[in-house]
Amino acid sequence: MEKKNIDWAKLGFGYTKTDSRWQAEWKDGEWQEGGLIEDAEFHLPESACVFHYSQSCFEGLKAYTTKQGDIVTFRPDLNAERMANTCRRLAMPAYPQDEFVRAVVETVRANAAWVPPYGTGCSLYIRPVMIGSGPQIGVAPAPSYMFRVFVMPVGAYFKGAVKPLKLRVSEYDRAAPHGTGHIKAGLNYAMSLYATMEAHEEGYAENVYLDPATRTYIEETGGANIIFVDADNTVVVPKSPSILPSITRRSLVYVAEHYLGLKVVERQVALDELKGFKECALCGTAAVLAPVGQIDTKDGPIQFPSGMEKMGEISARLRETLTGIQMGEIEAPEGWIVKIA
Ligand SMILES: Cc1ncc(COP(=O)(O)O)c(C=O)c1O
Repeated sequence: MEKKNIDWAKLGFGYTKTDSRWQAEWKDGEWQEGGLIEDAEFHLPESACVFHYSQSCFEGLKAYTTKQGDIVTFRPDLNAERMANTCRRLAMPAYPQDEFVRAVVETVRANAAWVPPYGTGCSLYIRPVMIGSGPQIGVAPAPSYMFRVFVMPVGAYFKGAVKPLKLRVSEYDRAAPHGTGHIKAGLNYAMSLYATMEAHEEGYAENVYLDPATRTYIEETGGANIIFVDADNTVVVPKSPSILPSITRRSLVYVAEHYLGLKVVERQVALDELKGFKECALCGTAAVLAPVGQIDTKDGPIQFPSGMEKMGEISARLRETLTGIQMGEIEAPEGWIVKIA
């Protein structure tokens, strides 16, 4: 199969319209049989619930070309499970988890020509999305829903992602106590956009959000979880009920413990403690693992000893091992890699 003619070295993180997408509709109380379509638009009534009451959620995962030349994806079952949890919290009908994985596999296979080749540093980003598409004017869940999976080739999320990032502690909150911080609802991102734009204008790559109840503990950033390495090389992972359970972070925890023999502690991490850590990194499907060199707080900057020039040693080993597993260079734990073609 001939690949699309793309300059992989110049590819950023953005939308490209590819050939096929998967669509399924929920109506009359059940999911109808889904399938591949070519139309990249949604055709919706002005009264669609998503426009008014923001019934929308999504997922993000990637497909890769491995060293062996296979097209694979990474732990899609966990995205299926997380989307089902998100749907329950938003009073939306969960898409059956095995059908979710099938939709991902079929969509990637149908767009195989768009999957970046091994060694380019690029991947195929997979975006499952669900919206309340039926008419709804009274405040209530939609009477019908659309589930769609579409894909696009992407490069790095943070330009020069292996160069350490500068972040700031946000004065805004991302999540409310007992709210929706732990699910992948579109509404969580809508309310973070203003804070993100402000951070970018001030020269920061991202905002670090604090726990919304006490504003003393580290939560995560707008689009990635955050991890730390302490002086004893222990990987420290913030724990909170309002953090999105990142699949990358959960995988890195496993890699740290089972591949690198590191100790991992998941616990509340106070803002005051940051000075004691030697490395800090963001992790997520889009960011993979991106080092953080500095976090500005209202009491001044915190600079991590790993500095602004290069990634810390533990962060680099974590990143290399995870990407090695994804690219077929390192043997994966059972069930992590799903072969598509
Ligand atoms: C708020 C937030 N946290 C964390 C993540 C990372 O999650 P994952 O590793 O499953 O991509 C994402 C993006 O996917 C996100 O949007």
